[in-house]
Amino acid sequence: MNYPYAQQFRQSLVEWYQREHRDLPWRQTKDPYKIWVSEVMLQQTRVDTVIPYYQRFLKKYPTIGSLANADEEDLLKMWEGLGYYSRARNLQSGVKEVVEKYDGIVPNNRHDLQKLKGVGPYTAGAILSIAYNLPEHAVDGNVMRVLSRVLHITEDISLTKTRKIFEEAVEELIHPDFPGDFNQALMDLGATVCSPTSPKCLLCPVREYCIGFQEGVAEQLPIKTKKTKVKNEYYNVYIIVIDGKILVEKRPSEGLLANMWQFPMIQRDKTFAEEIKNLYHVEICKVLKENFFELKHVFSHLIWNMQSHFVEGKVLLELPENVQLISIEDVKDLPFPVPMQKILKSMTEHILKPSE
Ligand code: ADE
Repeated sequence: MNYPYAQQFRQSLVEWYQREHRDLPWRQTKDPYKIWVSEVMLQQTRVDTVIPYYQRFLKKYPTIGSLANADEEDLLKMWEGLGYYSRARNLQSGVKEVVEKYDGIVPNNRHDLQKLKGVGPYTAGAILSIAYNLPEHAVDGNVMRVLSRVLHITEDISLTKTRKIFEEAVEELIHPDFPGDFNQALMDLGATVCSPTSPKCLLCPVREYCIGFQEGVAEQLPIKTKKTKVKNEYYNVYIIVIDGKILVEKRPSEGLLANMWQFPMIQRDKTFAEEIKNLYHVEICKVLKENFFELKHVFSHLIWNMQSHFVEGKVLLELPENVQLISIEDVKDLPFPVPMQKILKSMTEHILKPSE
């Protein structure tokens, strides 16, 4: 690395962090389990959203042992609304491995950590540097953005192999006495100053040591060629009332929103009555309210375009194993993905209590 300011950069960055860091709940602990939980929640999710989840989660599961023994449905319920639910299940698998293999002590080396379910190079580095004070890199997309500007790195960050360039750069730059502060300073800088568009260079504590700023190209970096492709899917969603109860189904144990519950959803180009008969053993007798709510829900690579219908049905055969009839009050006890909660809310507000 041909960068003349390493010493000044690390010093100024850490001093800025120690003076101005955001007061976040996971910054009041060195417990590797708690740092692990915070880092998993913070992947793909904003700090403000994570804070209340983090606090509730650690109240319910304050120790590794308590999470290892948690009921999966309760765990998903705690995660409800955070999205990317496989993170919760992987975290629990990882924690179980720590209990079984390491006597409940989170490993303090990259080799063992990265073997745990759901722990990649970033999470391992964050745990090692923040909880164990070890000089290990923790490079995510935000850190790549910051360093591509500081070091004027023009490699394409959408290529997997590029991450290594940044990891090696952090190994050279990291503050040996304050590795956790150094890594978190990069994260804070990325979140508050060195933003994707319109970076606030005039407020930046390391502007003097930023090659991208010196060359007037900070805003053009990082280089990212591949755009993530998004696929649209179109569904009809049915709230089916049968004898005063509502039909819900549990999703498969693999894939998107695994093991979460939902109202039946049928692709719009299929014949819904046939599908509902085959999948749920239920016949639709009456449409009570057609298309009472339209919703677009964006996942990372997928958009669900949903139209919701309120219908009455009757059971033809025994319900399949993953299907249940429950009272509307009991829906809140099941882990329900956000789009389904929005549909439920719309129904309770506009159909069940239209006069309020
Ligand atoms: N994003 C990811 N990890 C973080 C941390 N420890 N603090 C703030 N933002 C983060």
